[in-house]
Amino acid sequence: MSTRWERIARETVGADYARVYDQRFRAMAARGADIHGEATFVARLLAPPARVLDAGCGTGRVAVRLAELGYDVVGVDVDASMLDVARAGAPELDWRLADLSAFDLGERFDVVLVAGNTIPLLEPGTLLDACERLGRHLAPGGVVVCGFGLDAAHLPAGCPPTALSDLDAAFGALGLDATARYSSWDGAAFDATDGYAITLYAEPAASGLRGSDLP
Ligand SMILES: C[S@@+](CC[C@H](N)C(=O)[O-])C[C@H]1O[C@@H](n2cnc3c(N)ncnc32)[C@H](O)[C@@H]1O
Repeated sequence: MSTRWERIARETVGADYARVYDQRFRAMAARGADIHGEATFVARLLAPPARVLDAGCGTGRVAVRLAELGYDVVGVDVDASMLDVARAGAPELDWRLADLSAFDLGERFDVVLVAGNTIPLLEPGTLLDACERLGRHLAPGGVVVCGFGLDAAHLPAGCPPTALSDLDAAFGALGLDATARYSSWDGAAFDATDGYAITLYAEPAASGLRGSDLP
């Protein structure tokens, strides 16, 4: 099955896109860049050991860091070539090949993390199904964390933006409210002109995981 991510990545990078994607982050880290903003964000929400689902885990950058921090993490992705790189780098971790719009692991997680533009990279017309499936994997009192670009400058070439209002409505229909929104993984206050949004979705009465611990 060809996915939007595969089509865009092949067109812009080539057939070896998974390895190139992984190498790009490794090179950034070697230059001293912090490539672990998402994992640090999760660590501010909830201490390990907690169960984290890395939905659209790609080559495992975030899941591997979460495991290093002591989280019980499962990585899910629909792209076998991305998962091959993840498995090669961390064979001891739990990687699952599945489509977010149709998956059912039969497990629940304290944090369902959807990072790295996975939301706008979903296939057209699958946002509602994917949100329903993501919500289904959330433990009582847990939180869904979605981070993605809002404009062309923060999205892969040719990836159409997803409106935050559509995402809010999709999770809202499941009884999950947008409880906090930021512009960056270090917790900067949300400003739509920044072109990036990280939103927390939780049950209205859920305690603790509403983003209040973030700066
Ligand atoms: C830009 S990569 C980000 C990978 C990782 N989250 C990161 O931040 O490094 C987007 C990932 O979302 C995955 N993805 C897109 N649609 C998906 C779907 N329906 N089910 C599972 N994974 C999906 C792609 O295969 C790709 O690995």
